[in-house]
Amino acid sequence: MINDPIHGGALDQIRHRFPQAPSPWLDLSTGINPWPYPHTEWPAAALTHLPTATMTEACRSAMADAWQCDPSCVLPVPGSELAIRLLPQLLNIGTIAVPHPIYGDHLSVWRDAGRKVIPMTDPSQIPSDAQALVLCNPNNPDGRLWSFNTLKAFHGEMLRRGGWLILDEAYGELLNGDGITPDAGADGLIILRSFGKFYGLAGLRLGALLGPQSILKPAKQALGVWPISGPALTIGTRAYQDKDWQDATRMRLATARQALDAALAALGLATITGTDLFRYVHIESAHQVWEKLCAQGVYVRRFADQPDHLRIGLPETERDQDRLVGALKLSLSA
Ligand SMILES: Cc1ncc(COP(=O)(O)O)c(C=O)c1O
Repeated sequence: MINDPIHGGALDQIRHRFPQAPSPWLDLSTGINPWPYPHTEWPAAALTHLPTATMTEACRSAMADAWQCDPSCVLPVPGSELAIRLLPQLLNIGTIAVPHPIYGDHLSVWRDAGRKVIPMTDPSQIPSDAQALVLCNPNNPDGRLWSFNTLKAFHGEMLRRGGWLILDEAYGELLNGDGITPDAGADGLIILRSFGKFYGLAGLRLGALLGPQSILKPAKQALGVWPISGPALTIGTRAYQDKDWQDATRMRLATARQALDAALAALGLATITGTDLFRYVHIESAHQVWEKLCAQGVYVRRFADQPDHLRIGLPETERDQDRLVGALKLSLSA
């Protein structure tokens, strides 16, 4: 029975479970960019004053400009996880369809709220009683992509039922403008965005909820007056405006992802999907391989319900990648 922390990045707990593992650990358990946005300075007032409406507006505009949507449809939030958690409170629906595999919180928050969750393997067959459909684009952990036209069709179908398409675009920066954010504000459509992944600053806690006013108004009410810190608003505004960094980062991630795939393929691990921020690798006995990797101080992500896959984040350096490959080689052969 696997009893891992429910999210990646829990190195403190994993270290505790494997006290003999060599230090420092190599943490590849998340899909967070290992080369974070570098311009992270902020004026003293961002800490000594309360965050102002002007700062929030600037961040909201920068987000809306990056996602090509109307700023009035964007609500900055302190990380998209909190927005996911708010959804059962915002949507008065009884039954929700959630594909498998997907980011686990999309199942747990609805179940914990006492709603009926219908797990699906094929999201194109939306169950007839579903009042909402959750999708993650690109999907975590397998990287599955939904085309703009397919998403439009799903949204149309849910709208026809008086329901909702909930689209988690936590990794949406990798879509490079091919997402559905220009439709934000339409009835029946909720989009979630995360700052932490692509910009590599997950600890800053910033994200956004995009939707019609009927959703944003109660969400704003629930979050209170100063939900996002001054440093997060300052750095987020700058990063969302920095198109040059965004373009260069997309290229850098794609190059690193190709190098990682080549290294994994050389080990005989050729069935690989995922995104440019994490790889989803088919590995026999993945749970046991995970244990062996941990014993060598290498922390990747395994999933209790997926015994034949591991998710591996991008190593920051060639040395880290060599260490991953060496540890995998030993773990696969042992
Ligand atoms: C698909 C997906 N959605 C949402 C989140 C929550 O991220 P955050 O709260 O940092 O924005 C994560 C984090 O791993 C994720 O993978």
